[in-house]
Amino acid sequence: MYPFWELPFFTSGIVIALIATFHILPCHLATGAFWFNVYIERKSVKEGRPELMEFIKRYSLMILVFCFVIGSLTGVGIWFAATVASPRAISGLIHNYVWGWATEWVFFLIEIAAIYVYYYTLGRIDSKSHLMLGWLYAWAAWISMVIITGILAFMLSPGKWVETGGFFDGFFNETYWPQLFTRTALMFGIAGVYAVIVASTLEDRKVRDEIVRKAAVWGIAGMAAGALFSVWYLFRIPAPARELGLEGGLPYLRTMLKAAGASYLVVLLWFVLCGLIKPQWSGRATGIVILCILFLGIGAGEGFREGIRRPYIIAQYMYGNQIIGTDLAAKGIKSEVEKYDSQGFLKNLYFRPDKTDLENPGDRLLAGRVIALHQCGNCHALDIHAKMRPLPALLANLSPESPDDIAGFLEALGDYPYMPPFSGNDEDKAAAAEYLFWIVRR
Ligand code: HEC
Repeated sequence: MYPFWELPFFTSGIVIALIATFHILPCHLATGAFWFNVYIERKSVKEGRPELMEFIKRYSLMILVFCFVIGSLTGVGIWFAATVASPRAISGLIHNYVWGWATEWVFFLIEIAAIYVYYYTLGRIDSKSHLMLGWLYAWAAWISMVIITGILAFMLSPGKWVETGGFFDGFFNETYWPQLFTRTALMFGIAGVYAVIVASTLEDRKVRDEIVRKAAVWGIAGMAAGALFSVWYLFRIPAPARELGLEGGLPYLRTMLKAAGASYLVVLLWFVLCGLIKPQWSGRATGIVILCILFLGIGAGEGFREGIRRPYIIAQYMYGNQIIGTDLAAKGIKSEVEKYDSQGFLKNLYFRPDKTDLENPGDRLLAGRVIALHQCGNCHALDIHAKMRPLPALLANLSPESPDDIAGFLEALGDYPYMPPFSGNDEDKAAAAEYLFWIVRR
């Protein structure tokens, strides 16, 4: 175990969720937008309509700034945040998928080089070569999605990897194709929103309305297909995830799914009304409101996808508190739960703060806090005023009358479908219970 990153009030998960939601908008824009861009540019070249190029110029500049400043910063941000929040999970993923990421980064590099060359050669090289650059960007960006989706899907449904430990056995898993199709469709929806916003800044009314209409058609197709593919996705998620997310195991997940669906419906209706039927109604202000709604929908949708993985961070392998919960013969990895249960958790903690000797009564409270942080802190805040599942409030609901009551609760923790079992011997449990009772009573 690495030292624990404790974030007051919110827990580290919220930081990752926020950065990730900010990241999804630019990254799906980056993968989807150039297909529309190339489509309009081809039209301009084929039909000899240079006036369409004004849109291309504004749209590609927006993609360049938005995706390659905000998108890149938040992408790196996810890496930083996830690494300090769950170093062992990131390490587990890297040990399996380092070559996946390496391949993805090659396509990133192509993508970044291509968009700069594309933007700065606009109108300066012959139109055929310029179009080729557009295609290069569109394919490279989408291939980066093809790769990262495999690793994302692996975390929920690791497939045959659990038996074989094989790269592709985990990559092409049960939820891979539906997730790839959903993201591919939704990227056109997201690109469509931005295209409508950019097109509505054009001065030439006729060109403006024409492009808004076309972007709306792309957007509608993307959102509608995305909805169908996400239903396919929901059919393919593993049974425990279905119970948690769809059958009420964790009711808030169903609420999140509904919120995501509602926001996508609003965006779809906006495309129909302010894009297709009355393009003159589209504008920057409404576009930005729609973008905010889309942002919330993405946050809810991705939150659902992440939430149904509980109690695991990598399904069937590593729990949300980073304790390995399964034997993985193919990789020579053993479950740590039994080891901690018999030898003790705190004793095995490498970065153990001073004054946490379980034999010393004066140390017990701090020792209990360290155990609780490691075992509960990824999902719960320990502060009574905290926003993220505060343990003092949740435990108080169970009206414990002594530390023993809490120890009894810890004993049965694994019976909850969304929480990992408590891993540790009786001394660990007693110390954690003493500390947890203290924060309830404080
Ligand atoms: C992998 C994430 C995760 C970990 C680790 C985790 N929990 Fe939870 N816990 C949850 C979720 C999710 C809920 C449901 C909260 C809700 O309904 O909003 C929950 C609920 C609870 C509740 C309320 C239960 C009830 O019946 O009302 C208590 C108490 C609790 N957890 C204590 C703990 C303690 C103590 C630990 C550490 C020993 C811990 N949890 C570890 C995710 C986790």
